[in-house]
Amino acid sequence: MKSSKHLPVIIIMMLVSWACQVNDSSDQNSEVENKVEQLLNEMTLEEKIGQMCQVNGGNGHDENIRKGMIGSILNEVDPENINRLQKIAVEESRLGIPIIVARDVIHGFKTVFPIPLGQAATWNPDLVQKGTRIAAMEASSTGVKWTFAPMIDISRDARWGRIAESLGEDPYLTSVLGAAMVKGFQGDSLNGETSIAACAKHFAGYGAAEGGRDYNTTSIPQRELRDIYLPPFKAAVDAGVRTFMSGFNEIDGIPATGNKHLLTDVLRKEWQFDGFVVRDWASTWEMIPHGFAKDEKEAAQRAIKAGVNMEMATTTYKDHIAGLIEEGALSIEDINQAVRNILRVKFELGLFDNPYIAGEKQNQFAKPEYLEAAKKAATQSMVLLKNDQKTLPINPSSKIALIGPMADQAYEQLGTWIFDGDTTLTVTPQQAFNETFGQENVLFAEGMAISRTLHKRGFRKAIEQAKKSDVIVFCGGEESILSGEAHSRANIDLPGVQNDLIKELKKTGKPVVLVVMAGRPLTIGEISEHADAVVYAWHPGTMGGAALADIVSGKVNPSGKLPVTFPKVVGQIPIYYNHKNTGRPANPDSWTQMYDIPVKAPQTSLGNESHYIDAGFTPLYPFGYGLSYTSFEYSDLSLDKEVYSSGETIEVSFKLNNVGDLAGEEVAQVYVQDLVGNVTRPVKELKAFERISLDKNEEKTVTLTIDVNDLDFTNIDMEQVVEPGEFQLWVGGDSNAKLTTNFEVQ
Ligand code: NOJ
Repeated sequence: MKSSKHLPVIIIMMLVSWACQVNDSSDQNSEVENKVEQLLNEMTLEEKIGQMCQVNGGNGHDENIRKGMIGSILNEVDPENINRLQKIAVEESRLGIPIIVARDVIHGFKTVFPIPLGQAATWNPDLVQKGTRIAAMEASSTGVKWTFAPMIDISRDARWGRIAESLGEDPYLTSVLGAAMVKGFQGDSLNGETSIAACAKHFAGYGAAEGGRDYNTTSIPQRELRDIYLPPFKAAVDAGVRTFMSGFNEIDGIPATGNKHLLTDVLRKEWQFDGFVVRDWASTWEMIPHGFAKDEKEAAQRAIKAGVNMEMATTTYKDHIAGLIEEGALSIEDINQAVRNILRVKFELGLFDNPYIAGEKQNQFAKPEYLEAAKKAATQSMVLLKNDQKTLPINPSSKIALIGPMADQAYEQLGTWIFDGDTTLTVTPQQAFNETFGQENVLFAEGMAISRTLHKRGFRKAIEQAKKSDVIVFCGGEESILSGEAHSRANIDLPGVQNDLIKELKKTGKPVVLVVMAGRPLTIGEISEHADAVVYAWHPGTMGGAALADIVSGKVNPSGKLPVTFPKVVGQIPIYYNHKNTGRPANPDSWTQMYDIPVKAPQTSLGNESHYIDAGFTPLYPFGYGLSYTSFEYSDLSLDKEVYSSGETIEVSFKLNNVGDLAGEEVAQVYVQDLVGNVTRPVKELKAFERISLDKNEEKTVTLTIDVNDLDFTNIDMEQVVEPGEFQLWVGGDSNAKLTTNFEVQ
């Protein structure tokens, strides 16, 4: 192995072009910097501390705002009250510094888009960006100017309730979609009327919680942190994200909120981030139960020294900063630096110039185009996992038995984190099916009141309806509250008696379509055998029912692809596509299922490889997987060169052919393996993808590009390098892509 290549010429060229581009914006930057410094010079220590404090709710804080003791409020969405509070800050406080109002606008505001994991299944950055743009337009019309999103924690664990809020397991997909979310929230310019500051959270590693238990310990080796968990955060910085949130978790013994290495060395020094960092809720205080600080005072000191600029909800900063300065445990420069970062973002947001939300601009919600975009996002997020005998699409003249606890639940289909979601806007499957197929053709029975119902009293009516129908659509899954923060599950089967009901329905002999609305991958392998078709709909948001009707009726051809690997059984977790090969990779030829192992077989007679003797070694569905009502074929893969150097671009060309007789969209995916490294490398890594639309029988030549520099990884010396050597590349419709070729990097 040769050592890594550094190309000074390319770096100089990049710097020159960067210098030209930044000329304009640097004037604006210095203007903002001057304003920040001027203001800072006028501030008392108490006022500085005030900027570092965020309080919960919009009531009971008037006096403290007037005294300049509050910099931010979360969870107030009444524009009148926000204007009132802002007026106190701007017109009645000594220096007139506006407050910044924050809210968890996670997947929409009044118009709810699919949960982020569902949006990730669209593999459509433009659509995802549009979703956050709309969320920002709605939220900003209340006076909210800051969202705590996107959540870009990589998660490989479906038990973790917050996987719903994530963009899945892959660093590249999460980076691309997370950056799109940032751009959508922040708009073209941060001081735009409808722009709101985005927040990259939870820095870092929160998604690796032990056993999928929320808030739990994470043990992530530095190399894995660098190569898997940090790239989406770096991509968010590159996309211009203005705030970060530190996580609740500890990483290798150091709580994220007290983690100087991450918050200062990586975020500030290495990535040059100059926005501000808020810590998650009480995570400073939580350093006490973590056993990292003996009391609130020490916790505040450690968080500030690490680089947390603003505290949320609790008052350790308010109560202890002055004392810590007096004792010399903090310097005034520690505080100035935090306040500078906060003021900078307030200036950039235009809060000083336009602190109020004008009457006629207030409460702009759920415009028809917003609902249309939410429907498109839901439609593209739905993943067709199975479709035996072309059960779907349903013939329009069919009688449909629409059964299940999620078939008509305006609230439950919205998913986690929908504080502002308006259930009166929701279109449920029942409403949409009545519209699409005609009420007389839709035989409805919920069968179970909620997803967790444990009795079978509703079964009889459901079975009666099923018997009268041509096809059964069962809408099940898990209610919103079964995923999200603090809602981890150890058993991720369909809850309640759903499996029993599906089996009963199957006994009627009618084809069964299983629709799953859920906040995570559920272990539906066994129950899917009782279904002829399976549509994974996630929690699809406001327009979920309408999107589903379009999919099952064939008005829209499904095109969603899994952003996360689906395990067969929970014991396979963690299971993810970009794993390492091991010295003894699983081998389909020698693997023997547990029940086929001969009695008293000698220990070494069967494949001694890395697998489970019961669950095997493959997932239920691989990352990237998703069917269509048509079929796509990939062929004629070629690269523009055989040997590449750092800084170059690899052009990957192939033919994509829609060989079916329906138009459709395919997400073409390119994976790469670095065959030999000076540290071990994953078996495959997603490096490019594109959503491509093809008419029936149409063929397109597609060219996707990969920057050679994006083949980098953290080597044995902890340097980020592209290592010369042999690479293998695959193209296809999921992470099991077979069409392959090789190339070399010199
Ligand atoms: C705690 C959550 O972890 C975080 O994601 C959220 O933004 C804050 N609470 C504020 O609600």
